[in-house]
Amino acid sequence: MPKAKTRFVCQECGNVSPKWMGKCPDCGKWNSFIEEVAPVVKPRARQLPINKAVAIPTPITKITASEEERLKTGISEFDRVLGGGVVPGSIVLVGGDPGIGKSTLMLQATERLSQTYGTALYVSGEESAAQTKLRANRLGVSAENLYVLCETSLEAIETHIEQLRPQIVVIDSIQTIYSSDLQSTPGSITQIKSSASHLMLIAKGENIPILLVGHVTKGGSLAGPKVLEHMVDTVLYFEGERQHIYRILRAVKNRFGSTNEIGIFEMLGDGLAEVKNPSEMFLSERQEDISGSVVVSSVEGTRPLLLELQALVAPANFGVPRSMTTGVDRYRLSMLIAVLEKRVGLQVQDSDVYVNITGGVKVTEPGIDLGIVIAIASNYRDLPVNSQTVIIGEVGLGGEVRAVSHVEKRIREAAKLGFKKAVFPEYNKKGLEINEKIELVGVKNIYETLSVLL
Ligand code: TYD
Ligand code: MG
Repeated sequence: MPKAKTRFVCQECGNVSPKWMGKCPDCGKWNSFIEEVAPVVKPRARQLPINKAVAIPTPITKITASEEERLKTGISEFDRVLGGGVVPGSIVLVGGDPGIGKSTLMLQATERLSQTYGTALYVSGEESAAQTKLRANRLGVSAENLYVLCETSLEAIETHIEQLRPQIVVIDSIQTIYSSDLQSTPGSITQIKSSASHLMLIAKGENIPILLVGHVTKGGSLAGPKVLEHMVDTVLYFEGERQHIYRILRAVKNRFGSTNEIGIFEMLGDGLAEVKNPSEMFLSERQEDISGSVVVSSVEGTRPLLLELQALVAPANFGVPRSMTTGVDRYRLSMLIAVLEKRVGLQVQDSDVYVNITGGVKVTEPGIDLGIVIAIASNYRDLPVNSQTVIIGEVGLGGEVRAVSHVEKRIREAAKLGFKKAVFPEYNKKGLEINEKIELVGVKNIYETLSVLL
């Protein structure tokens, strides 16, 4: 018998090489090549009915597309992140750390969908039917139309989908699914890629939306398959600190809606609950008149969020000062520390600087820069910032305060929660329309901001 041909596949990006390599020349990752049995190329095209398979060029004005077609879960935080609901025939990838609540969210969402639209199929490759049932009991999920299938074989899943003809399918998780056509192990990039592309054919061909659950590696990207992110229509990340009860669902790619839209949930004893007024919630544990604590207004997608941002400046113990962050980018913090030193002469270079956004929220947009700068200065000088003030603005390398997007939304959210004063970029003042009762203070640079606030 001839020896089976093998090849080496980078588990990060899918690059194929006939020889093992220490570093992938494509994505630069070390030690990512794994030997796999090369697939025997035998074309196994799914036969699609002619009317579905053959596309004809059509003038764009003749194409009809209506927004009503989306399937709504009724969990409004989830629907909003999707751009208004699940689009039939689309593939949605839900990624997140183990134990963050992906299976819980999927089960709750499919229950709602099955109540409104008919049969839903929840395929679990990780848990037994009994385990899923126990979870369902805990969540109070008991819809008749929700079917559970414990299966990891792609072919079997395909057959069941064809027989059951569900309105929606969840695959939990894509890493456990394998196709017997391929000889590589489940979870390898070849398996994941091929399973996903088969499922995509089913989704598009039968117009069934499929939600895929995917694990995330320690580095924070989806395990192995960056390729998967390119294939699917929508990529959602479910994140949060496991010790906290808050969970944030974030869209990082969406062919059918805006990205960076977020949904906020609380993990309770009986499953995930929506958080309707997140700003209030995130500020609920705030202590007033503490130096180093400020309130910032951040816009994630279309929704403003008020968050408490804390900074602590402490003498460095071991010579080399460190900066540590939770919820804020560390490089951004280093930059802001350098700006503070150079532009206003705040000597923090010999100290450890900690910056923390409470509640386990991560902020990637620059509108909280000014808040970070003021929090550090406030703690350094041991002068509290007035607790009824909200701080908004991006900081440039010259120490200037730059304009931010959605400034009206940010200020309105603060006014709604009873804040008395908003400090924001002078450049945002033009054409600003705020009817709420809140004092507006425009600032041009961090020096001026410090003299206004501290
Ligand atoms: P799970 O959905 O299994 O996470 P994932 O599928 O992302 O791995 O959720 C696991 C965690 O959620 C588990 O540690 C317990 C917690 N949890 C609750 O706090 N309340 C609940 O009602 C449920 C079902 C889980
Ligand atoms: Mg799970």
